[in-house]
Parts: sequence; C-alpha cells; structure tokens
Amino acid sequence: MKKLFEVKNLNMHYRITDGILGNTKGYIYALNNVSIDIYKNEIMGLVGESGSGKSTFGNCILNLIMPTSGEILFNGKNILTFKRKQLKDFRKKARLIFQNPYMSLDPRMKIYNILEEPFIIHGIKDKKLIKEKIYEIISLTGLNNDDIYRYPHEFSGGQRQRIAIARAIILNPEFIVADEPVSALDVSIQAQIVNLLIDLKKHLNLTMLFISHDLSIVKYISDRIAVMYLGEIVETAKKEDFFNNYKHPYTQALLSAVPVISEKKNKSRTVISGEIPSVQNPPEGCKFHKRCPFAFERCKKEHPELKEITPEHKVRCFL
Ligand SMILES: Nc1ncnc2c1ncn2[C@@H]1O[C@H](COP(=O)(O)OP(=O)(O)O)[C@@H](O)[C@H]1O
Ligand SMILES: [Mg+2]
Repeated sequence: MKKLFEVKNLNMHYRITDGILGNTKGYIYALNNVSIDIYKNEIMGLVGESGSGKSTFGNCILNLIMPTSGEILFNGKNILTFKRKQLKDFRKKARLIFQNPYMSLDPRMKIYNILEEPFIIHGIKDKKLIKEKIYEIISLTGLNNDDIYRYPHEFSGGQRQRIAIARAIILNPEFIVADEPVSALDVSIQAQIVNLLIDLKKHLNLTMLFISHDLSIVKYISDRIAVMYLGEIVETAKKEDFFNNYKHPYTQALLSAVPVISEKKNKSRTVISGEIPSVQNPPEGCKFHKRCPFAFERCKKEHPELKEITPEHKVRCFL
C-alpha cells in the first residue's frame, strides 16, 4: 500500500509562559516521538482520552501548527519545509473538518458564500465553474439546492456539519482530518454524518484521519486504528486485528468502557483507575503504569518502545 503521510518522531511541546514577562514556566508534552504512516485511501482512526494530543497531531499534519521537532512527509515531501506556493497548494489538498459546526461557520454568510470562499482564497475566479461545483457538492452532501440562500442559524447541528463537510471537500482534497466531527451532535444523527463521511471517502478517493474519543465510532468507520495516550501512540493495528487481538492494557481499558448492548454480562472489565496524569510532568517509565492493573517494577523505571508484534500491529508495552 502506498503511503500518503509518513510521520517521523513528531514532538510538540507547548511552552507555558508566565503572564507579563513571558518567561518559560514549563512545557506541555502534547506529542512525544509520534511515528506513524497513513496509507492512501484509508480511514485511520485516532482514539484516546481528551487531552491525549489527538487534535495537536491533526493540526500538525495539516501544517496548521508548527511542531517542536520531527518530520512530516506528504507524498514524500516534508511539509514543514514548504514555502508559500507549496503551502498554498497543500492547503487545497489537505483539509480539516472541525468538531463544532456551531462555531465553524460564519453566521453572517449565506451557505453559497461559505462554499464560495475556498475558491476565492485559492484565486479561482470562474463564477460558472464555482456555481456548478457548489451545486454538485450540495447534492453530494445531502443538502438541498434552496439551502444555499440560507444562513447557518437556520440549520440543525447535523445539517451544519454537512455544510462544513461540503466546504472541506469542495476543492477536491486528497486528505481530510475529521476532528471529532460528530461529538457535538445528537447521538441520533451521528450515524448519518459518519455514513456520509464513509460514502464521500469512497466517492472522492479520499484518505482520512478520523479523530475521536469514542472507540465504538472509530470501530465503525476506520480501516486502521491508533491509540494515543499522553502524547504517545501505545497501540496501532488494522481494524480486525485490533479488535480481535488488542494487547495494550490501555486499549483493554478503553474497550471495556465501550458499552456493548447485546452482551449479557461483562466478563472481564478492566477498569481504568486514577486520573489521567499530567502532561506537564509525565510519569517516568511507562506513562500508563500508574493506572495499569498489570504494571510491575520495570514499568516504573523503563520507557517501553513501540514494538512490532506482527506486521502492521505495534504495541508499546513490556508484556
Ligand atoms: N495552544 C496550546 N497551548 C498550550 N497547550 C495546549 C495548546 N493546545 C493544546 N494544548 C494542551 O496539549 C494537550 C493535548 O491537547 P489536544 O491535542 O487538544 O488533545 P485532544 O485533542 O486529544 O483532546 C492538552 O494538555 C492541552 O491542554
Ligand atoms: Mg481534540
């Protein structure tokens, strides 16, 4: 399989400063040596608790924030060294769908203008072409032609997310980061939006990074899954392998937190105890050891590497 992204040793350490003088008080270690590939035409699910660094990762690979160090290759080229022209081109090819459709759409703009804006930003002036493309995308995303004359506040959350998705795909991107795209929506419409993303991915040959804290949604949509904990990948595998053969105690804990309706009894629930440790002072050794039911001496002192246990399946755990 061809790689669209190759991310190597990505670090993002946010500097915390004190108010007036701007002196460095410390760092938030949001991403730590994250290395991962994203293959062409796949949906990669990135899952983890809030604060684990998922959005930071998504923003880094879209070149929306500059990481502290590391390499991000897109079709073999390091996006972190892109100059203006290359960057502009990249912004067309790799786009973001936000979590909150209530905040991501300008309330003063009609839908037509919201969808026209990406063309204007990218210097495309052919009005006829723009109009055709807008109508095409409106129908692809399940909106109505009349909707283009309305304002965002006239739409429900689900419809607004369709508009946000329409805007993200209107310039024919290769790659989309969907950052918790259904978390702000009613459960009853989450499936519609997830199914729309799956359809669009097939129809438009997209590659997608789907970010969520909800493993049941990730299970539904993804081809491959990566689990993040305190800014590190702790397990990654193809979907089937992941769910049949997961190894990391944190993955077990995440999975047993997913309610399974058909299951009569929860046989072996691993309950994660304790708070998520601070990203400012990450624990020594394995970052999960304080909450891990299987932790032993070594886990307190040594930091486990992400090891390949079968091709494509990697785990960061001494066990
Ligand atoms: N701009 C920022 N400045 C400082 N810290 C940040 C910034 N953005 C995120 N963080 C911190 O980095 C960590 C990871 O955040 P984030 O990537 O948003 O995680 P997630 O998307 O998994 O919830 C959190 O501790 C968060 O508070
Ligand atoms: Mg986030």
